[in-house]
Amino acid sequence: MAQTLAEKVQSRKTFAIISHPDAGKTTITEQLLLFGGAIRQAGTVKGKKSGKFAKSDWMAIEKQRGISVTSSVMQVDYDGFQINILDTPGHEDFSEDTYRTLMAVDSAVMVIDSGKGIEPQTKKLFKVCRMRGIPIFTFINKLDRDGREPMDLVAELEEVLEIDAYPMNWPMGMGKNFLGIYDIYNERVEVTHPEQNGDNDFLPLNDKGEIVGDYPIKDSTIYTQALDEALLLKEAGNKFDEEAITNGELTPVFFGSALTGFGVHTFLDAFIDFAPQPASKKTAEGDVVPTDAEDLTGFIFKIQANMNPAHRDRIAFMRICSGEFEPGVDVTIQRTNKKMKLSHTTQFMADSRGNVESAVAGDIIGLYDTGNLQIGDTLYEGKDPVQFEALPQFTPELFMKVTPKNVMKQKSFYKGVKQLVQEGAIQLYKTYHTEEFIIGAVGQLQFEVFQYRLLHEYKAEVDMTPMGSKIARWIDEDDLDTNMSSSRNLLCKDRFDNPVLLFENQFAVRWFEDKYPDIKLRSLL
Ligand code: G4P
Repeated sequence: MAQTLAEKVQSRKTFAIISHPDAGKTTITEQLLLFGGAIRQAGTVKGKKSGKFAKSDWMAIEKQRGISVTSSVMQVDYDGFQINILDTPGHEDFSEDTYRTLMAVDSAVMVIDSGKGIEPQTKKLFKVCRMRGIPIFTFINKLDRDGREPMDLVAELEEVLEIDAYPMNWPMGMGKNFLGIYDIYNERVEVTHPEQNGDNDFLPLNDKGEIVGDYPIKDSTIYTQALDEALLLKEAGNKFDEEAITNGELTPVFFGSALTGFGVHTFLDAFIDFAPQPASKKTAEGDVVPTDAEDLTGFIFKIQANMNPAHRDRIAFMRICSGEFEPGVDVTIQRTNKKMKLSHTTQFMADSRGNVESAVAGDIIGLYDTGNLQIGDTLYEGKDPVQFEALPQFTPELFMKVTPKNVMKQKSFYKGVKQLVQEGAIQLYKTYHTEEFIIGAVGQLQFEVFQYRLLHEYKAEVDMTPMGSKIARWIDEDDLDTNMSSSRNLLCKDRFDNPVLLFENQFAVRWFEDKYPDIKLRSLL
């Protein structure tokens, strides 16, 4: 029987996996795809990488763009649900990209390395999830290695991130002595058998919370300690509260080892039970409810050009917020009021792409774009305009002057800069009178990627002159007086022609504020 729109929406779970680099995000993603049957063997999502994410790694990854990019949105079927996993770049220099992606999900899975605990990037990403009030599920990874004490890790989670934690399960030992987990939520013990290829034993518990019948590990001190701790948590720890999970106030915590696959299935089953279905989305006129209207609405949160260098394509990723997508649907781009027929679209599997036949709220579809769309655009079907709230934009801190090396190649330089700016890869400014190009970034690596992509995708070699770090502050157009520019600040315009001052340092900002007390200086996020 055909599903109704409501049934389809209810079956969607759209989430992002966040972590500090190397905590195991890619490994756990692969496990989830394996369970969904989307890939046949681990190692498919991205080739082996070595240690840190450096410039050379980025380039190597970019050479395999087909793989790395299709893996940025992955769709798998599991247990009657359609799961949409949105990957986020791990490196902090690309945090803008990650923050925008977090606007397109309904929940987040936070992966933590049990040997390291909460790392800086986890903290930053977590804050954005908190700001959005989305549910956060925690997976403490690498139990097959000796790590920190579980009690310590949970305490750190609560203290540093200021969120209540509810351990859904509790590890029995770690490293060489890792026996499995005491599954508090499912009231059973799961014993690991790496030699049996992930065929774990699931042992039921009696009223006292002990394993029923005889089982060799009952005699082990590791089991007894885990049992004691689990019972203590049950007595004295936070209470399980589904509403608090939904509101992002309580994080369910799971332990496991993504590499050996242990605990990932158990995690996924609980995640499916508690992760929310696609939520309503705010507009100035009120909420757009996924199933209220038949009319399609959605917003663009990511644009990626040249995903396939052979075809020079440019894909805008749209998160659907309401209605049902069908090929050929007519929509309006709210910002420009332009009409667009969505006939050429794509969806992303783990290792392939396909045409979209139908998609509903929570789903991500890729629109082939010729330059009409920008990040943050709302698209809507029908006559009633819809405008979703703006996506966050970051105040860049690092700046470079940039000029084309070869004047004969100016055309490709301008084209490349324009497209990379529309993608959100970098921010563009121009000096007020002389219109020199200045690019701004949150992290240094963004510049390197910008330069590399201009050269490889647009054949434009550039000269880049570092300007160092600056404090960018916007002012109202009406307040603008070009004499405001001094040796301590540089007057520029952003790509929407809004005036912005690049200050040398905090002292220069204060000096300006003293001189122009009536002028309000604004930053982005
Ligand atoms: P990331 O996407 O969060 O950056 O992490 P990724 O999954 O790439 O994992 C980072 C490293 O940690 C990888 O090792 C991976 O094999 C390892 N790892 C992930 N999960 C576990 C786990 O549960 N236990 C153990 N012991 N290791 C785990 P690598 O040596 O950096 O890369 P590779 O050459 O093995 O791919």
